[in-house]
Amino acid sequence: MQVAVIGANGGIGRELVPRLLDAGHDPIGVIRDESQFDAVREHGGEPRFGDLKGEFAPALQGADAVVFTAGSGGGTGWDQTLMIDLWGARRSIDACVEHGIDRFVMISSYNAGDPMAGPEAIRPYLVAKRCADDYLDWSPLDATILRPTTLTSEEGTGRISATFEDRGEDGEEIPRADVAQTAVVCLENEVTVGETVRLFGGDTPIEKALSPDD
Ligand SMILES: NC(=O)c1ccc[n+]([C@@H]2O[C@H](COP(=O)([O-])OP(=O)(O)OC[C@H]3O[C@@H](n4cnc5c(N)ncnc54)[C@H](OP(=O)(O)O)[C@@H]3O)[C@@H](O)[C@H]2O)c1
Repeated sequence: MQVAVIGANGGIGRELVPRLLDAGHDPIGVIRDESQFDAVREHGGEPRFGDLKGEFAPALQGADAVVFTAGSGGGTGWDQTLMIDLWGARRSIDACVEHGIDRFVMISSYNAGDPMAGPEAIRPYLVAKRCADDYLDWSPLDATILRPTTLTSEEGTGRISATFEDRGEDGEEIPRADVAQTAVVCLENEVTVGETVRLFGGDTPIEKALSPDD
């Protein structure tokens, strides 16, 4: 299927596009900077321009599913957090409804379920993520919300620890590559529709970790 990756040249996005291709999908890489088009092509994606703060919805034309992995990043102000992590995510969901795209995987964040439980310094970010997740939850889309803990740029292991409820023990940091692979597996696993999944580094193969008995 055609899967649009919003944030395709970000850390998770760069890991996700080639994995979608390997899994037999046609990835569309949505980016806001045309100088990144070649990078998306090199990863095996069809680059499309889409700025979450500007012209955006046409970038999703023809897609069957969307993965949202954009973010304002830690170096910007809360104004950008509002515009991208919250409003950009909401615009992405609205664009899916507009285009009749049913399937949506959100890369949210650990502690977004309970922002007040997170570190005070990043609570506004967690609130933005939580509000975007709630909007997705209330939308008609077939949604999976992934809430990874701190991301690393280590090589992927193909193994994670996942909990289907937004509580329980904390775990280890997780490579972006493993979050990307988890998103691919979710797209192929209807059991994850309607679920919110916390992700940590771990020892369980991704497919097994996402089965409801684990
Ligand atoms: N860092 C962590 O430890 C952590 C933990 C849990 C969850 N997360 C979440 O995981 C996701 C991915 O993280 P990451 O580290 O892969 O992020 P990243 O490397 O910062 O990538 C984010 C991407 O979003 C894009 N973006 C920013 N503003 C945009 C706009 N206006 N329109 C379109 N695209 C825009 C950026 O594009 P440019 O390349 O043009 O800047 C960038 O490629 C984010 O949603 C983040 O909140 C992160």
